Amino acid sequence: MKNSMSKILVTGGLGYIGSHTVVELHNQGYEIIIVDDLSNTSLDVLKRINKITNSSINYVNLDLKNVEATKIFISENNDIDGVIHFAASKAVGESVDNPLKYYINNISSLTNLLNELKDLNKKINFIFSSSATVYGKPINVPITELEPIKNAESPYGNTKQIGEEIIRDLVNSNSNFKAISLRYFNPIGAHLSAMIGELPIGVPQNLVPYITQTAIGIRKELTVFGNDYLTIDGSCLRDYIHVVDLAKAHIKSLDKLISNDDKNYYDTFNIGTGKGTSVLELIKSFENVTGNKLNFKIGDRRKGDVAECFADVSKANKFLNWNSEFSVEDSLLSSWNWEKNINNEKL
Ligand code: UFG
Repeated sequence: MKNSMSKILVTGGLGYIGSHTVVELHNQGYEIIIVDDLSNTSLDVLKRINKITNSSINYVNLDLKNVEATKIFISENNDIDGVIHFAASKAVGESVDNPLKYYINNISSLTNLLNELKDLNKKINFIFSSSATVYGKPINVPITELEPIKNAESPYGNTKQIGEEIIRDLVNSNSNFKAISLRYFNPIGAHLSAMIGELPIGVPQNLVPYITQTAIGIRKELTVFGNDYLTIDGSCLRDYIHVVDLAKAHIKSLDKLISNDDKNYYDTFNIGTGKGTSVLELIKSFENVTGNKLNFKIGDRRKGDVAECFADVSKANKFLNWNSEFSVEDSLLSSWNWEKNINNEKL
């Protein structure tokens, strides 16, 4: 009983991962309503989604911190069957400087939303956008979902830990809710149309947008943060997953929730490729697939980085029937096409 039968609310649906997930939901025939407060994106993304999907997706400008507005929105959309909750702030460094912003944005919006959904008194399938950051410094790699949750490395990470706990406790107390938390590893890449992708504001903090901006000449050079880690080549290992594969994991999670009759079902899944790639390997791959020579230097380690962080994805493979399909090379090429596309548009 999915697709045209199911109406899905996507919060933060105009953001990086949200926009790609909206496209995949549309491809599967789901009815969609997006809410976004445009704090880290613009209405331009809606136009682009509509172009890719050749449709007109419902959108409401809503700040989920606003209790009254959230109440009205949910009462007007009491026919939703599922929610994919992306809306949150996500910059690790900013969360250290301004922790209250993160607790207010990420936690109060979640509790407001859940509180209104609870009052609908109907079955709700809920997917939470979580992160591998919940594992803190991993003891074992590849990381399974059994890896102990340690003290968060940042207020941002803590909001993801707390968010998961809030949802788990609600599901335990209320059999109208079934929920899944997806723990993303490192999302990269862009839609193959190159019409949507990651749009970092200011200087990118993440590796791939920094690489593409350097290659196109916006940044002078990339600094590799450390080459003295105990890894194959001294640089850090991460699990880079194509954002379209990640988007599809949300569809599989919805399928799982819809088909699952267990009362009080809640589970967590790692979403990555299962493969670690070092920073230096990533740079080499980027050079190979794009034909660009990247200007980079080796710098000091960045505070808070762990040497290795990559997923064991066998649980998602088995229980969500989901696998990543794109290679790191595919992902980098799509990031590059997106970077070229947005810069062409500016000319
Ligand atoms: N790196 C560089 N130079 C840069 C930027 C990054 O060498 O200019 C390196 C980092 O040191 C790290 C790797 O590239 O080794 C990846 O760094 P990112 O900042 O792209 O990603 P992180 O793994 O640090 O962070 C990601 C998400 C966070 C999440 C975290 C932990 O972006 O949201 O994983 O799960 F919290």
